[in-house]
Amino acid sequence: MAKYHVIGGKKVQGDVLISGAKNAALPILAAAVLNGGVSVIKNCPDISDVRVSVDILRKLGAYVDCDGNTLIIESKDIGKTAIDRKLMEKMRSSVIFAGSLIARCGEAAFFAPGGCALGKRPIDMHIGSFKKMGIDVREENGEIICGKNKEHDCIIELPVPSVGATENIMLASCMGKSMTRIKNAAAEPEIEDLQNFINSMGGKIVGAGSSEITIYGCEKLHDCEYSVMSDRIEEGTFMCMAAMTCGELNLKNISGKNKALEEVLCGVGCDISHSGNELRIKTEKMLKGGLDVKTGYYPQFPTDMQPQITALLTLCRGESRITENIFESRDRHIDELIKMGADIKKRDSRNFTVKGTDRLNAAQVCARDLRGGAALVAAAMSAEGESIINDIEYIQRGYEKFEDKLKNIGVSIKTEKEICDDEKN
Ligand code: EPZ
Repeated sequence: MAKYHVIGGKKVQGDVLISGAKNAALPILAAAVLNGGVSVIKNCPDISDVRVSVDILRKLGAYVDCDGNTLIIESKDIGKTAIDRKLMEKMRSSVIFAGSLIARCGEAAFFAPGGCALGKRPIDMHIGSFKKMGIDVREENGEIICGKNKEHDCIIELPVPSVGATENIMLASCMGKSMTRIKNAAAEPEIEDLQNFINSMGGKIVGAGSSEITIYGCEKLHDCEYSVMSDRIEEGTFMCMAAMTCGELNLKNISGKNKALEEVLCGVGCDISHSGNELRIKTEKMLKGGLDVKTGYYPQFPTDMQPQITALLTLCRGESRITENIFESRDRHIDELIKMGADIKKRDSRNFTVKGTDRLNAAQVCARDLRGGAALVAAAMSAEGESIINDIEYIQRGYEKFEDKLKNIGVSIKTEKEICDDEKN
């Protein structure tokens, strides 16, 4: 597995162009199955999760041309309706291809994606919602086989506002003759992006971004062109890096969907200003902690920023508390931060107390998941000396041109390969 070498202790300074959002691009790529035609998707981040989605589309029979951040997908020849098992195991969220295959082809087959570092990651709400929609679901030797038989109008109330389940219902119900209403739907901005993409194909969905979404089935969907929204989590990650190194960054092409995070960052003493679709963050003095950060469903504080804010709070004077309300075990970055000298006590896998220290120490640590890995890079940037972050493949799943963007703002970061090449020259 690959690693980063980071020499920390320097303030970051400069501009960062925010890429397209991973968590908007992935459902949009699944939705490209629907129209049996051409979808031109712009501002798509060049990350490994997108490449897995492209592989899934190709295995289903779609033609995909990748030109930098623009993907051209021709889905008329999709003939297979079984999602490749190996590719599903690489990316749990590929379960949302089921919804679009059911809508377009009337059937889908896939294997339960299984758990990961964040917890069990069940799909019971996806399956339960399909059944309520009149989709026949059965299991054979671990494979889940779905068939659209008697579609009818229905109202689905989700037990929790699950992002993936909301997206799967939208995809499965956007074609046909019936109306589907989702109550207690996820309200994340990426859901709105998916609605806008499907509507750009001629779909008829209203309400995304709120807790109630109504989908009117359409007979046919047509070719479309769409640009993916900016990545609010990438944005937030760079904001935490500026705060942790007492630096100053200008983020360009931002999503503007980070109100809860900006409140916390201003609360610790960051200076944040907006101008159009740009954000400037400046941090001069030692930050003040004593915060109580609870993750929740949008627009509450995002779980995908919990590891990064935890890393930041290790440098904020005073005692802060973190409560992870979305995933049962989004805590595997904690032990790695402690290796760097962070003063963190874990009450359980969801509740941590963080006491601010003057600085973190360079160390050898391991990324255990995407956002935890990014938090460790931020921690290494704040620590004097050379840190090594192992298993960086996790980070490369969700951050486009990560090393280049960091080098452009003054971070000394190298991969093993770069170090070997330097030694050769
Ligand atoms: C999406 O995951 C995101 N992934 C996650 O981002 C994000 O953390 C999460 O939403 C919450 O915002 C993508 O969009 C690709 P959920 P998803 O269904 O859809 C439970 C990142 O770092 N649940 O909203 O899988 C589930 O276990 C990733 O970019 C069920 O119990 O999340 C969790 O506790 C990580 N049964 C909670 O709901 C179900 O059928 C929220 O999960 C579905 C979910």
